Amino acid sequence: MIRQRTFGIAVAAVLAGLLFAPVAAQAAGSGFPNQHAPVNLRDAVSLQRGAQLFVNYCMGCHSANHMRFNRLTEIGLTEEQIKEYLLFATDKVGSPMTIALRPADAKAWMGKAPPDMTVIARAKRPDYIYTLLKSYYVDDSRALGWNNLAYPNIGMPHPLWQLQGNPQLKVEERESHGHMMQVKSTAPGDMPGTLNALEYDRAVGDLVNFLVYMGEPWKLQSHRIGIVVMFFLGILLVFVYLLKLEFWRDIKH
Ligand code: HEC
Repeated sequence: MIRQRTFGIAVAAVLAGLLFAPVAAQAAGSGFPNQHAPVNLRDAVSLQRGAQLFVNYCMGCHSANHMRFNRLTEIGLTEEQIKEYLLFATDKVGSPMTIALRPADAKAWMGKAPPDMTVIARAKRPDYIYTLLKSYYVDDSRALGWNNLAYPNIGMPHPLWQLQGNPQLKVEERESHGHMMQVKSTAPGDMPGTLNALEYDRAVGDLVNFLVYMGEPWKLQSHRIGIVVMFFLGILLVFVYLLKLEFWRDIKH
């Protein structure tokens, strides 16, 4: 009895370890605290807005080679909408999301080649990307004029500056446990973007939501498969029950 209980506790501990290991792995990284990305793969409208932002603001530099445009019908877009709003003139609906920029040119221009985005949300985590896109500030000492609190001296210039404007670095002195500490954040500059702060957060949230979807499209499918499986099990239960009644009738007589 006691041995069984210890065994049970050991199994529970191992399971808990497996469950929380990814969280521990995520916590390591840049010192800048991440904000929580509002990811919701069931929100088709958010995914559609994210897809449009991705095509308009990211695909100048980033490809998504393992993603095909026509898979976007999964998030509720019709082929006509994909053609009209998302495709460049030369693309076909069935083509992958490749780009014309050559990695070597990109490297010469920005110091580093832009990574492919198909699985970026898995590689870099959604909260980090959300924070990254909200942590740009103007920095004249940098070649392209931008810097970032979440990734200091990043090669990528602010991809969404038209939407956010020209955020500035803000440094505050705060006391913590008797020491003065510098707390860095960003604050709106004198040139407003086309979105206000709230709308900008939502746009970045939609974009990150789409990046998560792109890296794990089978999550949508597995949800659907799950419903089919439950339905199947429900029907099976009815048959098993009828079978049981049938067996017992024979035994009673
Ligand atoms: C002007 C070209 C350009 C555009 C446009 C652009 N990127 Fe980038 N991006 C880069 C480059 C270059 C890097 C590599 C930067 C580095 O590691 O210093 C990069 C890196 C990244 C990374 C990885 C950061 C890391 O921690 O390694 C993410 C995430 C990212 N981009 C997201 C986006 C998103 C989302 C968009 C659209 C809103 C976008 N990018 C638009 C050039 C671009």
